[in-house]
Amino acid sequence: MAALLKEGSPLGPLKVMARQIGRFFQIPIPGFRPFVVFGPEANRKVLVTERQKVLWRNTDPVTDLLRRGVLVTDGEEHDRYRELMEAPLHPAQLPGYTRMMIEQTDRVAAAWKDGETIDMLVESRRIALLIIMQALFSKDVWNDLPRIWTPILKTIQYISPGMWIFWRRMPRVGYKRHLKVLDGYLYQMIGDRRRQTTDHSQSSVVRRPDLLQHLIDAGLSDELIRDQMLTMLIAGHDTSTALLAWTFASLGQHPKIHARLVEEVCSLDKSPLLDQVIKESLRLYPPIHIGNRRVADEMEFSDGRDSIPAGERLFYSIYLTHRDPGIWENAESFCPERFAHGRKTPPFSYVPFGGGPRACIGAAFGQAEARIVLRRLLQTHRFEFTNHRIHAHMGATLEPRPGVKMKVMKRN
Ligand code: HEM
Repeated sequence: MAALLKEGSPLGPLKVMARQIGRFFQIPIPGFRPFVVFGPEANRKVLVTERQKVLWRNTDPVTDLLRRGVLVTDGEEHDRYRELMEAPLHPAQLPGYTRMMIEQTDRVAAAWKDGETIDMLVESRRIALLIIMQALFSKDVWNDLPRIWTPILKTIQYISPGMWIFWRRMPRVGYKRHLKVLDGYLYQMIGDRRRQTTDHSQSSVVRRPDLLQHLIDAGLSDELIRDQMLTMLIAGHDTSTALLAWTFASLGQHPKIHARLVEEVCSLDKSPLLDQVIKESLRLYPPIHIGNRRVADEMEFSDGRDSIPAGERLFYSIYLTHRDPGIWENAESFCPERFAHGRKTPPFSYVPFGGGPRACIGAAFGQAEARIVLRRLLQTHRFEFTNHRIHAHMGATLEPRPGVKMKVMKRN
């Protein structure tokens, strides 16, 4: 039953380098030689104790795309945007999203024909897009999906680390055409909301306390609002898509765990196994597999034996940390029980959402979404993995390629 899950390049070579060299090395590609660090000490340094020595803003496609988005700004500018964004994602707000998340999940599942084979990578993206757009911008994108789907995929492809090496030499005509469509879509939403906000004659118009409204009320320009919206749209759905798809892939390969999980979600209000499965999926397949920084002030690693000069690019590898046999027993195995009974992991050895003051702003939202969507789908449908080979593709997120094909049947 177990399908072969293998690492696509360049994850395999990275692991070989980690095994042979250790927790500090430099990728030897001419013209692109980032330093890679991993493990609890390095993570703590980059994320907390020496974070003032690194910058998020870099010369790469992510900064080019997101311009002044919260993900790629530093200092006071970053803190200002972050504060504005935190309100709608605060854990206290999450229960208010539950019904909507279930409704969007059901809506996508209603289109599945009984017994057909679907790709859970595609279906997860559909669900995640509907949810993020509704939650943050009160926008129902169902009818617009055909128009924005390809522009979103092309934009994500543009920011994939694999493309960074050739970035300057890359023909960008196709990408720019797609980005124009996406930008046009976002600016239209901003304009519509501004008109609603200022049109006092329509006293019946309800002002929504969503993220878009927060950004407008804070007096940000259309351009700055676009940058934050695009950041949240990409960061908030591509990650959830990967998490859901990898979880289905993992369940497909572990029929016993899959069966126990279905039994739990169908009989218990709270499923401990569901939490463990999601955590383990995030460990083995962290959607954000590397954190990208520019070193502003020389940094030392490995007790002073290694250093990175100012100006260099630094990746802290979540993927390598999560698969380090020095930290994890049976590091390569899918083993949700390792997280049973609230078992704790050493600090900075499990970092699917990064850490420190710039840890993922949507961590609670993303985990709640995964729990709600998975629970609902497993309760309403049976999924059978079609036993094909999957490899981990290093895109903007870690993606299961060529997809997660599953036969789906409605439960009675
Ligand atoms: C399973 C879901 C998710 C995962 C695994 C994930 C992972 C991460 C990681 C690892 C970082 C830190 C990256 C670094 O240190 O370089 C991050 C930052 C960020 N994430 Fe997420 N994320 C998820 C969901 C979300 C969602 C749902 C949103 C928005 C609704 C979101 C928005 C952001 C933003 C804006 C940042 C940058 C924060 C800052 O720099 O202050 N993420 N995410």
